[in-house]
Amino acid sequence: MNIFMGVPTFQNLLFIFFFFLFTISGKTDGAGPAGPDDECKPIRCKHNGPVIRFPFRLRDRQPTHCGYPGFELSCTADKENSTVLELPRSVKLLVKNINYKNQQIQVYDPNMCFLRQILNLNISASPFQFPFIYELESFIIFNCSSGYDYYYGLISCLSNHDYKIIAKPYKTETSYWELSSCKKMLDIPSVPDFIIYDYNQNIPTSLEWSKPMCAKCEAQGMECVLDRNSSLATQTKCLYIPKHSTSAGKSRKLVITGIILCSFLLVLVGIGIYRLHSTNKIEKENRQKIEKFLQDYRDLKPTRYSYADIKRITNQFKEKLGQGGYGTVFKGRISNDVIVAVKILNNFKGHGDEFINEVGSMGTIHHVNVARLVGFCADGEQRALVYEFLSNGSLEKYIFSADGLGQRQSHSLGYDKLQDIALGIAKGIDYLHQGCDQRIIHLDIKPHNVLLDQNFIPKISDFGTAKLCSKEQSAVSMTAARGTMGYIAPEVLSRNFGNVSHKSDVYSFGMLLLEIVGGRKNIDVNVDNTSQVYYPEWVYKHLNKEEDPGMGIVEEGQFKIIKKLIIVGLWCIQWYPVNRPSMNKVVRMLEGDENDLVMPPNPFASADSSKRSSTALKRPMHSALEIISESD
Ligand SMILES: *[C@@H]1O[C@H](CO)[C@@H](O)[C@H](O)[C@H]1NC(C)=O
Ligand SMILES: *[C@@H]1O[C@H](CO)[C@@H](O)[C@H](O)[C@H]1NC(C)=O
Ligand SMILES: *[C@@H]1O[C@H](CO)[C@@H](O)[C@H](O)[C@H]1NC(C)=O
Ligand SMILES: *[C@@H]1O[C@H](CO)[C@@H](O)[C@H](O)[C@H]1NC(C)=O
Repeated sequence: MNIFMGVPTFQNLLFIFFFFLFTISGKTDGAGPAGPDDECKPIRCKHNGPVIRFPFRLRDRQPTHCGYPGFELSCTADKENSTVLELPRSVKLLVKNINYKNQQIQVYDPNMCFLRQILNLNISASPFQFPFIYELESFIIFNCSSGYDYYYGLISCLSNHDYKIIAKPYKTETSYWELSSCKKMLDIPSVPDFIIYDYNQNIPTSLEWSKPMCAKCEAQGMECVLDRNSSLATQTKCLYIPKHSTSAGKSRKLVITGIILCSFLLVLVGIGIYRLHSTNKIEKENRQKIEKFLQDYRDLKPTRYSYADIKRITNQFKEKLGQGGYGTVFKGRISNDVIVAVKILNNFKGHGDEFINEVGSMGTIHHVNVARLVGFCADGEQRALVYEFLSNGSLEKYIFSADGLGQRQSHSLGYDKLQDIALGIAKGIDYLHQGCDQRIIHLDIKPHNVLLDQNFIPKISDFGTAKLCSKEQSAVSMTAARGTMGYIAPEVLSRNFGNVSHKSDVYSFGMLLLEIVGGRKNIDVNVDNTSQVYYPEWVYKHLNKEEDPGMGIVEEGQFKIIKKLIIVGLWCIQWYPVNRPSMNKVVRMLEGDENDLVMPPNPFASADSSKRSSTALKRPMHSALEIISESD
């Protein structure tokens, strides 16, 4: 394309003209023999069903060469005319949607028991895989004959009065499970955990294919077809195919070619004249563009300030915003319109970690729901962090009433807004967990660390306790418990309950959700709480009875939001990390309809049960959790 860069000469223009003339006529003439046979043209089972085309074929109506081996669809014979994906071992799944560009197909089980299909199917022997975005877990399936009341891993759609089918995550310890009357059925490797747990049986699951690789061809607007000339049965090629020409289309094509050629000539002449006049101007503009880009790029990375800069920015530490164990926060101004909050770390020796964490993790990330680190100061003994200033302060202010007891009046924001805030926080955490090349685990999610901007958009802040780990790593190593009592996940306190991972943030987020709904602290650390009702447990008991959860008088629309937030919250505070949904899943649950959500198992399995294994699944009294490390 360097022809376009210089000043166009007459030869160049002539060359381009003939080049295009040649390509266009080549393409139009080539339509005949290379075009798709009519028998392979795109088809649907019903008018609003997914389009069926290569690599798929409709088995009964299109010959084998129309599709890639293993990509067979059929239509149901009933009046629904649904599209069916046929997999090996006569597994049949209904198709909701096919995305040819992303190479994904959304499927669901007509009987809302996806696992039944997975048990039959060996997914690694099919051309489809679960997308990497799902959290994949391996499970062992047991067939149990006892009357034991299983909470965890029960596959209710496969169980009945006489026997229960249980899925035990491969990673959990067998001693926690009551398996004395169980027979092992099989292992299922690497499936998304929501397929196992009932709460998601009716939401379509995505499968993706990596072969044939037609995405690039699709993106260019060309057509992927099987290369019938090749000796390989699975060789594809990418063809330019004008949309199904007929004899009437032939003459239209001539006219179109004419129009294209004429406009092309006009454009060429235009470009030529324009180029001659504006080469200099463009060069100047380009230089400016690059300057601007470099400026913006510099702004994206946190700036390093000297201590003198910090003094100037905060106007000699004039306006104090807050005070904590870590240091003091001052309001500052970088320019007329950029207001910042400057956190001066008191004693940098004790906060070396915090400082490195914050600059290291926050300096590289940019998300609407994560507070932005504008700059930092490391000048001699002085350490300071400069954040964007968020005018509405912390979420804590809005969900807890002043006396810490009041319930309803604290919701000055209204439930719709609170739902938006919850979703924003979930998206922020999900972003941190997905990471670019590193996951960021925050480990201190709580209302105090969520700040609100002038539009009440939530931003996650305070990365002093955060941990960075690679994407492949499923657990992080920790020497001491971090976080805040009331939000800290059980495995962070004791490794007996599992590894510390991104699921530990899910737990804290669940506690935060329940506090948003309840407008009160789940645990009041200032009160001797042995006699106090543990609020999340109280909510679970009341919601499970399908009664009004005693939330006072709320409108029906509001009640739906409350119920949704509570159910998602209870899923998040499941005792074992493996039973908690991933943050990505939480986002989808919050965005979805509350009727699609299933009640989670009781996270507070009763303490008075005499059954053996239930003691292992029991939540120890929270008062027994001793390690408290308030971060501020
Ligand atoms: C299903 O297909 C049959 C035959 O192709 C057609 O008559 C009927 O209208 C279709 N039903 C729907 C709901 O599209
Ligand atoms: C599943 O398929 C893979 C690949 O074809 C094969 O190696 C494996 O043994 C199969 N597993 C079962 C349980 O059939
Ligand atoms: C589970 O075991 C019972 C008897 O041991 C048997 O009748 C039943 O078919 C089994 N269920 C499955 C799904 O294999
Ligand atoms: C198949 O190969 C033959 C000879 O190699 C060639 O003449 C023909 O055009 C090819 N057909 C297609 C559809 O590519």
